[in-house]
This record gives sequence, C-alpha cells and structure tokens, in this order.
Amino acid sequence: MSRVWNFSAGPAALPLEVLQQAQADLLDWNGSGASVMELSHRGKPFMAMAAQAEADLRELLAIPAHYAVLFLQGGATQHFAQIPMNLAAPGDRADYVLTGHWSEKAVSEAGPYVQTRIVASSKEQGYRCLPLVDTAALDPDAAYLHYVANETIHGIEWRQPPPSGHLPLVADMSSNILSAPVDIERHGIVYAGAQKNIGPSGLVVMIIRRDLLAREGRPMANVLRYREQAAADSMLNTPNTWGWYLAGLTFKWILAQGGLAAIEAGNIRKSGLLYQAIDGSGGFYRNPVDPAARSRMNVPFTLHDPALDALFLEQSAAAGLMALKGHKAVGGMRASIYNAVPLAAVEALVAFMAEFARRYG
Ligand SMILES: Cc1ncc(COP(=O)(O)O)c(C=O)c1O
Repeated sequence: MSRVWNFSAGPAALPLEVLQQAQADLLDWNGSGASVMELSHRGKPFMAMAAQAEADLRELLAIPAHYAVLFLQGGATQHFAQIPMNLAAPGDRADYVLTGHWSEKAVSEAGPYVQTRIVASSKEQGYRCLPLVDTAALDPDAAYLHYVANETIHGIEWRQPPPSGHLPLVADMSSNILSAPVDIERHGIVYAGAQKNIGPSGLVVMIIRRDLLAREGRPMANVLRYREQAAADSMLNTPNTWGWYLAGLTFKWILAQGGLAAIEAGNIRKSGLLYQAIDGSGGFYRNPVDPAARSRMNVPFTLHDPALDALFLEQSAAAGLMALKGHKAVGGMRASIYNAVPLAAVEALVAFMAEFARRYG
C-alpha cells in the first residue's frame, strides 16, 4: 500500500487512524455482523453512535445546551439557500460580508429567498484581506449577518468572528471547522460541509441557536425546515449514516489528539512552516494575502514564472505530493493542509519546494 501526501481542497485527506478504524469495521461493525451502512438508522446501535457523535462534537466545541446540533444533507451550497428560507420571511432582508468565492456563492444562492445586501467586502482589494465590518452600517432589521469563516479558494480566514451587533451571526465554516476553538455563542448558526475537516461529502453539520428554530421563515417542505429536523434528531428522513459514523470517528480522533487547542497548535505550526517557505523563497513563490488574514487551512501560492506551473505539478506528483493545482479563479498552486494532513506532509512539501526553486530559480 502506498498513500500519497494529499493536499486536496475537498473532499480531502482524512486521518489515517479514522480510515483504518472504518476499514476494520467495514464488514462487521460493533459485532453486529453487518456494516454500519447496512443497518437501520432507527436501530439502537446506530442511534447510540449518532448520539455519541453529537456529544463528542459538543465537548470539542463547548456547544451550550441552547444550541441544537443537526446532521443534515445537501452540502453547504444547499444551505446557502436553506438558511434564508428558514430565517427570513418573504420580503425580509439579510446582510452579507464578501471575502471571496464562497461568500459570493452564498449571496447568489440566497438571492431567490431574501433581499441580500453587502455590508463589507474586500472584492476591490482582490480578496487579499479581510474587510472592516462596521456595526453601525448593519441593517437593524436584517434577518441575520452571514460570513464565510475561511475562504477555501482565496486562502483568507477570520481569526475572530466579525462583529454583528444584535443580528444573529451565521458562519459557513466548511473549510475551517474544528481547526481551532470557536466561540459558538457569538453565532446564531455555524454550519459546515463535512468533506474537509469532518468526514466524507454528503453531510452537513449545523449548530443552531434554538431560538432561531422558532422563526417561521417562508412556506417550505418539512424536510427543509431546521425546526422539524431538530425535533426529529436529524432523522426526519434517512440521514447519511455512513457520513455520520465517519464524523463520529473523526471527533474521537480529535479528542484523542488533545482537543481543539492541540489541533490549533498543530495547524499554526504547519501553516507557519509553509508560509515561511513561501516568504523566504526570495520571490520564487508568492502568497498575496495580508499576513493577518492568511488561512491556516488553504495556502494558495504562485510561482514567479507561470511557465513553470506544469513542471511543478508534474514533479510534485511524482514526489508523492498530490492535488497542488490551484483553483482557476486564482491560478498557481494551493496546498490545503486540513487537520488530517500531518506535519510530515508539509515538511515534504517544503523540502520539495526548496529543491524546485534551487533547480529552476
Ligand atoms: C467555504 C466553503 N463553503 C461552501 C462550499 C460548498 O460545499 P458543497 O460542495 O458541499 O456544497 C465549499 C466547498 O468547497 C467551501 O469550501
């Protein structure tokens, strides 16, 4: 067996121990004689596993009791639309912060369901920094304020949530959830597609303040209504049982690493090493993001001569470094270094980059 160092932006690397546990469980989970994928979500073993996964997530993020935790489907993109459906009545307005590709997408998907307004944006700066959010500029009657905690493509991350005045703050944490402690109580909703720091795609984890479940929103099917999903313990219909199970294994893995403080320390070390290699390359590699806003999860960088891009990708792949091609919106390279990407992977990348720069600089 040979596994590569995987820098994919998502679906992304999962912890080796989680994959090994899943492999060991695949044919006979918990002595049931069947895979977890083959068992009813209504059965006791699955219900117990599901409840434990929620309890572990609550412990990791110190989620207070007045927040519900939902395990949903549809990907973060569907919730770009479903959040305004649930939180905003027809005719309502909502405020958005623009920091890159995913916040633009959140605005466009919300468009049919709420009157969106951009209250802060770094678009004019090419999404290379975080904008200032002035609470005096917020719409006092907005249904909520939405931001993207980590822009997966532009490599920009909020260290602290933006101020939201009295508005419920809604955070898309798809690409940085569980990478560091978060003040849940600053938020009305935290949600994340699972396929970066949690598990496989097809699962969305949502942490929602219970008072928001009382909002009537707009007329919609029960299956789309967060209140109904919360009342049914996210089992209004058949949930993504495999995703939920893998998420549970990842939560246990993070607890075993020492929780989010330990995970954050590892992420600071890994990202620090990579940014140092870029900044110290004498201009051979460049990252354009304001250092205060640099993501610890997604590190885009360009080569001083784009004609070398194809060679860099070819040689890095041959060296066992996978998925370094940058998103077409920003070009160049991108190394996604989520929780499950070990320090050794970043060390291997940095060593490769130094050698490549020596050869072609
Ligand atoms: C920050 C962020 N938000 C939303 C999405 C969209 O997620 P999905 O494809 O699960 O809908 C992504 C996907 O990469 C993302 O990185």
